[in-house]
Amino acid sequence: MVVLQRPVDLDDVQAIEALDSMGMFGTTRDLPEQCSRALDTAADVPLPAGGTFQNIVVTGLGGSAIGGDLLRVYAFTCLDIPVTVNRGYTLPRFAGPRTLVLAVSFSGNTEETLGAYNEARRRGAAIVAVTSGGQLAAQARRDGVPLITVPGGIAPRSAIGYLFLPLLMLLDRLGLVNGIEAEAAEAVRILRELRIRYDLEAPLTENPAKQMAMNLQGRIPVIWGASTTTEAVAQRWKGQINENAKAPAYWNVLPELNHNEIVGFQAPTDNLHRIWLVFLRDPDDHPQVQKRFAVTREIVGKVVAGVSEVEASGKGLLARMFSLIYLGDYVSLYLACRYGINPGPVEVIDRLKSTLAKGE
Ligand code: PA5
Repeated sequence: MVVLQRPVDLDDVQAIEALDSMGMFGTTRDLPEQCSRALDTAADVPLPAGGTFQNIVVTGLGGSAIGGDLLRVYAFTCLDIPVTVNRGYTLPRFAGPRTLVLAVSFSGNTEETLGAYNEARRRGAAIVAVTSGGQLAAQARRDGVPLITVPGGIAPRSAIGYLFLPLLMLLDRLGLVNGIEAEAAEAVRILRELRIRYDLEAPLTENPAKQMAMNLQGRIPVIWGASTTTEAVAQRWKGQINENAKAPAYWNVLPELNHNEIVGFQAPTDNLHRIWLVFLRDPDDHPQVQKRFAVTREIVGKVVAGVSEVEASGKGLLARMFSLIYLGDYVSLYLACRYGINPGPVEVIDRLKSTLAKGE
């Protein structure tokens, strides 16, 4: 892994490209186009047999699970059945023949997801597998399970379009949601507009993503969203900062955090001075939640290093979610550069997986 341990000038494109051995900036730049392509990947997959589903379980881990969280939040306002995100080896007790299980693993080799897939088979659930290959693809083909194949060769977390939008398209084809193509088209348009503002060529003085990374450097980012709108996006920001910048970050949502976490902003002040709060704002947040953001800022704003508020762009929920995701993705990459760290490799995860695979 390339570790310079000295900050890279965020306007030095050459130095950033030299650090970024896996081309994370390139795949981030490509996100709008990835989202367009992603819609097609679910177009021809055979629909799972099983008729009327009582619930949906998305099973996956890390970069392959966050698409499930986005789906769960999206579904909150428009789906008649519950969506649960499952991160583990088994499945919740309710999962059975009337459950649609979406088994998502970018590599296709994540042992927890393979375990949950096998459990879904045993329970007689309807399954769709989403992967770029590996054992999951092989097993799905062998079992005659519908398979959405996504392109490989990038980091799982860079494949957010491929790992989220096909799930939505599938639900659209099953008649469970509608209008996804039009919503996705808006998201792609907004992402293309934001790319001009966030990408490497936009200088620090005009680039909100670079400016946010400068604010977060040397600080502990705490990302606060709101349940039913920006909840999964806050979680995505946290994960991207962890994996790209190799730095700690935390997330939570309003109104819940008003009932516990906010009390923890009183002592010790030395620690609190290291925190930078990022509020993810969505115009569709409940009016009381909008007020809560303002009051919360008044209460904690003075004890932390700083507070940034960022507003979602777009009309539809998909565009709004992706607009905030895009900012967080770029911020995490620029933060990696400020730490002199190659954003791509996640050696700790790889080491853990191989140690467990060897049974040590
Ligand atoms: O971002 C990552 O590399 C991880 O969070 C992976 O997504 C996670 O370990 C699961 O692997 P996979 O996505 O291949 O199932």
